[in-house]
Amino acid sequence: MGVSPASAPTGPRHVAIIMDGNGRWASARGLPRVEGHRRGVEALRRTVRAAIELDIAYLTIFSFSSENWSRPAQEVSDLFGLLRRFIRHDLAELHRDGVCVRIIGARDGLDPEICALLTEAEELTRANTRMTLVVAFNYGSRDEIARAARALAREVAAGERAIDTIDAEAIGSRLDTAGLPDPDLIIRTSGEKRLSNFLMWQAAYSELVFVPELWPDFDKAALERAIAEYHGRERRFGGLVAKTGS
Ligand code: FPP
Repeated sequence: MGVSPASAPTGPRHVAIIMDGNGRWASARGLPRVEGHRRGVEALRRTVRAAIELDIAYLTIFSFSSENWSRPAQEVSDLFGLLRRFIRHDLAELHRDGVCVRIIGARDGLDPEICALLTEAEELTRANTRMTLVVAFNYGSRDEIARAARALAREVAAGERAIDTIDAEAIGSRLDTAGLPDPDLIIRTSGEKRLSNFLMWQAAYSELVFVPELWPDFDKAALERAIAEYHGRERRFGGLVAKTGS
């Protein structure tokens, strides 16, 4: 007996992905790490398309962490080059497909040319509503939370805010993700099982799914398998009764 559309499970509305395993994919083939990152960009293109087809409203990807600066200078430069190329080559198509691009992460200290590209991507696509692609670039949760804390402390010091008004909502409104729903599902590829400083505040009630595929091998079928695992989970958000996501 088939599943009627009315009973088909809905969501997740927001999927976030830790794209891990590019280096291992390349090493296994005797290729330089940059080749793994290049194939990673192709996997990213496939995944954005799949997410649109699957009616995912928000897709967040971890493309460069604040800790990735500790990699060799050549690899950092390769990753920046790939981001530059991704925005230059893919922005028009993302825009045509109705994708709104939003960048999270620290902009201070970034090359002004990269900052200009990030701003251009956000401004061009601001009004698009088909899907929001959130690119975490130069992002780390601890840094994001520290920046939010400093912003609130400044308001207190300036006499614009009473200390007692600092609650979870106030902090959330100062994070880079302000206005975005929390992720329902966080996927990490390559079999590693940790968050690595990604969306730690926002992940409070996210379902975590760890998949064995290395990121360059990730595709729509792998995304669908992760979503099926998500649908098998019961989300209670600290209560006793199962609830649907945001
Ligand atoms: C982890 O693989 C992946 C990254 C550090 C970067 C993710 C980047 C991409 C998918 C390509 C760039 C995309 C954009 C939009 C710039 P790893 O190198 O840690 O792999 P390993 O753990 O196997 O060494």
